[in-house]
Amino acid sequence: MKFSVEAGGKLTGEIRVPGDKSISHRSIMLGAIAEGVTTVTGFLQGEDNFATLNAFRAMGVNIDDSDRDHIVINGVGLHGLCAPEDDLYLGNSGTSIRLLSGLLAGQKFTSTMTGDTSLSGRPMARVMNPLREMGADIAGTDTNTPPLKVKPAEALHGVDYVMPMASAQVKSCVLLAGLYADGQTCVTEPAPTRDHTERMLNGFGYQVNRDGNKVCLQGGGRLAGTEIQVPADISSATFFMVGACIAEGSDITLTHVGINPTRIGVINILREMGANIEVLNQRDVCGEPVADIHVTYQPLHGIQIPEDQVPLAIDEFPAIFVAAACADGQTVLTGAEELRVKESDRIQVMADGLNILGIEANATPDGIIIEGGKLGSGEVQSHGDHRIAMSFTMAALRASGTITVHDCSNVNTSFPGFSELAARTGCRISQFG
Ligand code: S3P
Repeated sequence: MKFSVEAGGKLTGEIRVPGDKSISHRSIMLGAIAEGVTTVTGFLQGEDNFATLNAFRAMGVNIDDSDRDHIVINGVGLHGLCAPEDDLYLGNSGTSIRLLSGLLAGQKFTSTMTGDTSLSGRPMARVMNPLREMGADIAGTDTNTPPLKVKPAEALHGVDYVMPMASAQVKSCVLLAGLYADGQTCVTEPAPTRDHTERMLNGFGYQVNRDGNKVCLQGGGRLAGTEIQVPADISSATFFMVGACIAEGSDITLTHVGINPTRIGVINILREMGANIEVLNQRDVCGEPVADIHVTYQPLHGIQIPEDQVPLAIDEFPAIFVAAACADGQTVLTGAEELRVKESDRIQVMADGLNILGIEANATPDGIIIEGGKLGSGEVQSHGDHRIAMSFTMAALRASGTITVHDCSNVNTSFPGFSELAARTGCRISQFG
């Protein structure tokens, strides 16, 4: 599938983007291992989340999604999962495979997790190392990539794990294994990462304690089924925020967006670049802060992106790079080597695409240097990375000619209906194939 996006336009209106991907994954995982019924509204109907949902169905969990706006999970308790008959296919989803690794490490059956070409190339030593420290029996390929095979452990032991990188997926993996471990499991993060797992465990009545950068839980407790309302995903809202920041005359409101403090790096960074972003009607929904975000066009200027914002905006950089390409002056990103091991190498793929569009963008080992300029036209490759595809779609708002974005079908992993919503708000987008 490809997008062809004619130049120009502006973004206007009030929209609610689909549900938060991270929270949707966790709602299924924790709902499945809770006791009793969990209901989920606002669940992201993206391919990644259905990969998680199907994995739990394959392990015997009864999940009713006949009303997709009101999913009902009949939890089986911590020890109620059954051996799947086949491999668990997790598609493009890093969150599914890494969090499930922790959960499966505690089961009394063998399971194998597989994925698509992108997932099959992503690093898994980061989860296998701490899990093995806990006593897990988990193995990947010779290069520590999927498929991952998890066999029953003799016993899992609590661990005091200091993470070498700021990763919510690794943190969550270890905490989920910790539910099945003897004693206390702690994870120390080098910088704050998204804390949806901790918040949601608390929502299921499972105590998680935080002391600075260290989170701990005791194994062997119980989760009680609950009600979850998933807010709109700030990562999906980002494309529209950036679109409005770069297209003159834009005025858009994104409603009911999750603004967890561990996710708002994009707002902080765009504001530092001069963006006009208002955060309105702040409220709390099921333990997660939510707000409406109003963005109007205002010229941007380049900045040195503060490194402490990197984990807080980790999924938003492809879009932020488009904002930087439209800003006055130079934008420099450092400390973001993690971007090279996402669904694609997001530093190189964005630098290549921006170069094709006439922007001087130079990849560095841990970031990028972008000189703001005039976006031209051309054909760019998303390399099957949903966020790259959506970022270059927004770039057309400020381009001098049509931008064609190739290999866009994975937009459905996180943002079903993106092209329709983009067209409705002002993008001149057509979808082919
Ligand atoms: C996620 C954590 C992040 C993020 C990913 C979703 C999660 O990955 O990039 O899209 O749901 O925990 P890392 O924790 O590996 O940085």
